[in-house]
Order: sequence, then structure tokens, then C-alpha cells
Amino acid sequence: MSQTVDSFSFAKRIPATPSIGSTTVTKQDHVHLSFGFAAPHLFPIEQLSQSAAEAVTLHGRKALQYSGSVGPGQILKWIQARSQVHGIHVELDQILVTYGSTQGIDLATRILVEPGDHVWVESPSFFSALQAFRTAEAEITSFPIDEEGVRVDLIEHALLNAKQNGKPLPKFLYTMPTYHNPGGVTLSVERRKRLVQLAEIYNFFILEDDAYSELNFTGNRYPPLYTLFPERVIYLNTFSKIIAPGLRLGWIFADSNVIAKIKLLNLGGSIGVFTQEIVAKLLDGFAFQEHVDSLIDHYRQQRDVMANAVKNSFGEHVTFHLPEGGFYIWLRFADEVNTSDFLEDAANRGVSFVDGKSFYVNPEGFQYARLCFSYVSEDQIVRGVQSFADAYFAYINKAVS
Ligand SMILES: Cc1ncc(COP(=O)(O)O)c(C=O)c1O
Repeated sequence: MSQTVDSFSFAKRIPATPSIGSTTVTKQDHVHLSFGFAAPHLFPIEQLSQSAAEAVTLHGRKALQYSGSVGPGQILKWIQARSQVHGIHVELDQILVTYGSTQGIDLATRILVEPGDHVWVESPSFFSALQAFRTAEAEITSFPIDEEGVRVDLIEHALLNAKQNGKPLPKFLYTMPTYHNPGGVTLSVERRKRLVQLAEIYNFFILEDDAYSELNFTGNRYPPLYTLFPERVIYLNTFSKIIAPGLRLGWIFADSNVIAKIKLLNLGGSIGVFTQEIVAKLLDGFAFQEHVDSLIDHYRQQRDVMANAVKNSFGEHVTFHLPEGGFYIWLRFADEVNTSDFLEDAANRGVSFVDGKSFYVNPEGFQYARLCFSYVSEDQIVRGVQSFADAYFAYINKAVS
């Protein structure tokens, strides 16, 4: 028997709509240039299967137990050692394993922000991060990016202006300095140095999202912001792009006092203890650098195929920055184009992409589109980009006639 229950007033801070980041593939026959998914054929399935078996048979009594806020520990040591390759030196109490870097964004926001506090972001920015900041009821202000990453000069100007006029300063700036999602750009060394100086002068944190740093197509190296100012940078990374996103395993580096605060929020103790054990087993004796090199070779090739396909299918109608790493090509159309207007037609032609406005705090970015080259085959890239171009040309021809 069905009962009628009174309606209930849920917390107002809960978002009205899901983040695009929580969508998944439903139409198998479509070419998905929208999803920032890793290439599934590069998951180390056989090795993971063996590690999972070993984790349960050899270490199950520990790996299946509560493990306090520190966790089993072996993975921390691997992360600590690997990060030295990128110039990052941390003690174990400066590392926290998270349920993916998305959880890291959320946890950092929760320890830093009261409702009404100010958070500064790049425009465009990562939509799941924007969702986390909105849920925390932060006031969000955005700063544009160009070919060299976020416009640090504009940030500096805004900080000075806020200080002089008694306006609130940000609690933190959220940035993706290396292989930006969606912009594909990388923050120059000069801007990195200035940005951390500003964080010191105006006393705000920087939330550095470094999810793609291992996928370096050129060999050029950029110092993580964390290495420049570890006291005020909270650094986030993840196994999602280098092993598999379904593991839901990432990590934070921060000052040990900051890590201690975040641990206070982790009510169930360390997360994914069993997964940590499996991944630790996998990494023990795994040729990780070789694995990363094969990811880089693959994704670099995919990037090149996509860049050529875009040039062939769109000609002069779009511009983009060729990314030095990561998963994305960010297309800029003429200012009067609104990419949301041909999203549906593109879907009818069997291709998905993300329209520009989804990456912005305010209603803007309509003339952009994000294409992702990581999840699809080369053949799909060529076909998908052509169908996307067909939808675009049909749209502009309709606008002209
Ligand atoms: C910039 C950025 N940060 C974080 C994530 C999510 O990482 P995770 O799977 O570790 O939550 C993504 C995934 O698309 C991303 O692009």
C-alpha cells in the first residue's frame, strides 16, 4: 500500500543538478568526445587481478580491517618516492590518501571555507570543483586563462584592489597549472613564481590540481606550485589518469597541520583501505615508468590525430592551443557562435562534446567546446570530429539563411 508522506525540505546548499562529471556513457554506439575517461585498454587488468588476489589472500586480515586515519601506509611510501621524480619532497605526515582527487577538492574546501567566504578560480575551470565550491556556499570569482595559463597579473590587480578597498580576500585560489582541464594550457614558470608570492603576501591558500602531470608529451618540466610554497599550497593528484579511475584513489600533499585538520573530517578513518592494499601490491615491482611512457605515447598520438582532424574538418573556423599533456583540446569558435546550440544536433549525428558554458561560473564561454581525445580510438576521433563539424556547419548555415 502506498503512503503519502509530507514533503521534506532538504538542505538548500545541495546542488539542484548533478555535475557533468557524474555522467557516464549510456549510448555505446556514439563517439564520445565529451568524457574525460582514461583509455580502458591501457588499464593493467592482469596485474591488478593478481594484486587483488594477493591483497586478499596474503594481507586480507589487515587490508579488510579498520585502519585508523593513517591507513596501511605502503602506498604513502610509493607516492612519496614517486613524487621526488617531480621535485616534490614530503614527509609521510604531509600526505593523505583520498577517494580520488575530487574528494581532495571537497575536503580542502571544507576545512578552508565558511559560507560566504571567497574562492577564486580560473575561467574556464573544472566543473566538479565549481560544484564543490558552490555546495560550500562560497562566493566564486573567476580569472581568465591565456596561452600561458591563468592571468596572474589580473589576480594581482584584484588582490591589490580588494586590499585597498577593504573587500574580502580569497580563502584560496583553485588552479590547474599543468595541462589545464579544459584549456589544455600550462602556467609559465614566471607566473608560477609570482602566484606563490601573491599567496604569501595576501595570505591565501592555493589549491593545486595536478591530475594530469604524469601525462607529459614534450618532456618540458614545470615546478609544481607546492614545491615553491609548501606552507600555503594544497596539492592534489590521482591514480585515475595513470592507473584507472574506478579505483577512486588519489592523494593530497599539504603542510602537516593542514593534513591533520583534513583528517578530522575523515570520520570513517582512512578511505579505501583494501583498494590501497591492492594498488600498493600492484606498484610493488610494477614497471611504472614504462607504463607511464606507454600512456604518454598513446595519448600524444591521440592528441595529434585529433589536432589534425580538427584542422581538416574545421579549417579556419576554430583556433586552439596544442596541449603539452593531458586529455583535452579546447576549441574557440567565432564570438557569435554558441556551441550549446548544436550540442543536440551533434548528438543526433552520434557525437558528444562538452559545450563551453559548462566550465564557467557566470554565463559566458559560449563560443568554446571541449573535445577529449583519451577515451576514443583514432578512427572514432576522425569520424567524431567530422560529425561535430557537420553539426557546426549546419548550425552556421542555418544562422546565415
Ligand atoms: C582537473 C581534474 N581534477 C580532478 C579530476 C578527477 O579526478 P579523480 O578521478 O581522482 O576524482 C579530473 C577528472 O576529470 C580532472 O580533470
